[in-house]
Amino acid sequence: MKKVSNLTIVAWMAVAAWVLLPSVVGTQTGPTEAPAGFDDLTNGFVDQPTHDADAETFAEQETIADGLGPVYNAQSCGECHQNPVTGSSSQITEQRAGRLSNGIFVSHPGDSLIHSRATSATIQERILPGHTVRTFRTSLSVLGDGFVEAIANSTLQQIADDQPGRSFGNIRGQVIFVPLSEVDGATRIGRFGHKNQQASLLSFSGDAYLNEMGITTPMQPVENTSNGTFVGFGTAFDPLPEPEDDGEDLETFARFMRATKVPPREAGLINNTTVKSGEQLFDSIGCDICHTPRIVTAPAGTLINGGALRVHAALGNKVIRPFGDFLLHDIGTGDGIVQNGGNSTRNKVRTAPLWGVRTRNRLMHDGLSFTFLEAIGRHGGEAAFVTNRFNNLSQSQRDAIVAYLTSL
Ligand code: HEC
Ligand code: HEC
Repeated sequence: MKKVSNLTIVAWMAVAAWVLLPSVVGTQTGPTEAPAGFDDLTNGFVDQPTHDADAETFAEQETIADGLGPVYNAQSCGECHQNPVTGSSSQITEQRAGRLSNGIFVSHPGDSLIHSRATSATIQERILPGHTVRTFRTSLSVLGDGFVEAIANSTLQQIADDQPGRSFGNIRGQVIFVPLSEVDGATRIGRFGHKNQQASLLSFSGDAYLNEMGITTPMQPVENTSNGTFVGFGTAFDPLPEPEDDGEDLETFARFMRATKVPPREAGLINNTTVKSGEQLFDSIGCDICHTPRIVTAPAGTLINGGALRVHAALGNKVIRPFGDFLLHDIGTGDGIVQNGGNSTRNKVRTAPLWGVRTRNRLMHDGLSFTFLEAIGRHGGEAAFVTNRFNNLSQSQRDAIVAYLTSL
């Protein structure tokens, strides 16, 4: 019998690999970069005319005839999510309040959200005496949030598990499971809002239409109160029966947000030498432990949101650079308010995603920090170890980190 040469074996192995490998790896390719831009263009989730029409609905001014009020915060989603393009953030803040009873948070009568406007002066809400837990909350950007929605629960859990815990200044992000309004009884890891109080963009839309604008839908059919007093349909203050909207707008808002691109870096600064050295320092002292620089979304087709949604091809298997872990941390800034997370989250806040942070001049959840240095200076608690390292840098190294933030 003829001896099989090593070369022949190698050749056959190559053929076998060529035949077998595709069936193992299928047609999967590596993740690709999510499209970025402050340019009002679709990320591919819908076509451009649909996105333009959805953006218009998102920015549409509602009136009392549409269900606005009786208590509310503003007339359109776009009013607070606007700088520099529809969907980003703004300087508008909201109030929340409650009180502590034996160490347990109790919401203000009505809800912890204290509306800053009303359709009648008679029912203007204000914080009642004794409600000493109170805060401002800044408007957050929704740009790129379709990608954030497409992050698998397991990915967020893995980020938390990988955080160093006790060996590195006690950092350990907390995940919370929150209810999804679109599927009865279903929960998912929260990732939206300063408290991670929502897990899907449809749930957030229902919440915001009711709570920011006072418009009820089948998803959120119960009208807001004024400091706990009923002011809905049947009283002098609300002419429309619930639900005031058939819920179609909620689908439009969610579709708009899912089709937005992620906030872009400042193109002229990405390769700046100071910015580059700031980036290295940011990572080396540990800012990146919470301000996660890179996350990959779940593959297209993955069922999410309690089975109510499949990850779209435009959103699946994408690399995003949010500079945030979408986890709750106690860095000593917690506002004491509980939303969907239970009492253990009272003093925790979601890591602020730093993408697009150069468009904000009121920082932290309460908007009470004026500069990047002031915001960094407020990082204590879980972040104290990293903040100490920041403080031990030279002046020019600290300046480089600030320059880096200005490029995000
Ligand atoms: C009065 C201003 C205001 C209006 C109007 C408003 N929002 Fe917001 N939005 C905010 C604030 C403030 C937050 C942060 C809330 C918090 O977590 O405390 C926010 C957060 C969000 C988030 C979470 C973003 C993230 O990445 O975490 C989404 C999504 C959102 N809003 C959607 C909407 C939609 C949809 C509408 C219209 C139905 C709307 N908002 C109307 C102020 C507003
Ligand atoms: C332990 C986690 C953790 C670490 C480490 C950390 N941060 Fe933060 N960062 C947060 C959280 C949480 C917030 C939001 C706090 C709030 O709103 O009260 C935040 C907010 C910020 C903000 C404000 C952003 C905005 O939109 O308002 C900046 C800027 C910032 N961090 C920069 C840094 C820098 C620079 C470092 C490293 C020196 C750092 N952070 C380290 C968790 C962390």
